[in-house]
Amino acid sequence: MGGMIIAIGSDHAGLPLKRSLLATLEAAGHQVLDAGTHDGASCDYPDFAHAVAGKVAAGEARFGVLCCGTGIGMAIAANRHAAIRAAVLHDATEARLTRLHNDANVACFGARTTGEEVAMDALRAFLATEFEGGRHGRRLDKLAPTALA
Ligand code: RB5
Repeated sequence: MGGMIIAIGSDHAGLPLKRSLLATLEAAGHQVLDAGTHDGASCDYPDFAHAVAGKVAAGEARFGVLCCGTGIGMAIAANRHAAIRAAVLHDATEARLTRLHNDANVACFGARTTGEEVAMDALRAFLATEFEGGRHGRRLDKLAPTALA
């Protein structure tokens, strides 16, 4: 799973998990763009979700990784970007299926809800799984902003 450019970010609650996942990614040979936060001071998760989502949407990073207390706020914020499909992951099964079926491009984790080793396994599965396409591609087309009118 080495060799990709991956953007990562967290708020204060997700910072310890972000540090672990960042180290795992770098050890696997990825180039990681760290959008912050860099210290434990209280901060606002949308700032980091938008920074990471922007890099993925612009093609500057293949995937994004976001950590907050639950992963939920990060996913809500990241999914406001039209090109982003962010999923909150609790295990490797969810990670594999959201790549296969949803072509998810941002993985969100909750530092208060998901253990570090479980999150690492989920992230490895996320990065190792290709989108299945076919009927799932048709369904993704129905998520486009133009399909909502
Ligand atoms: C911060 O306390 C917490 O609200 C945030 O990390 C996240 O869990 C929001 O979804």
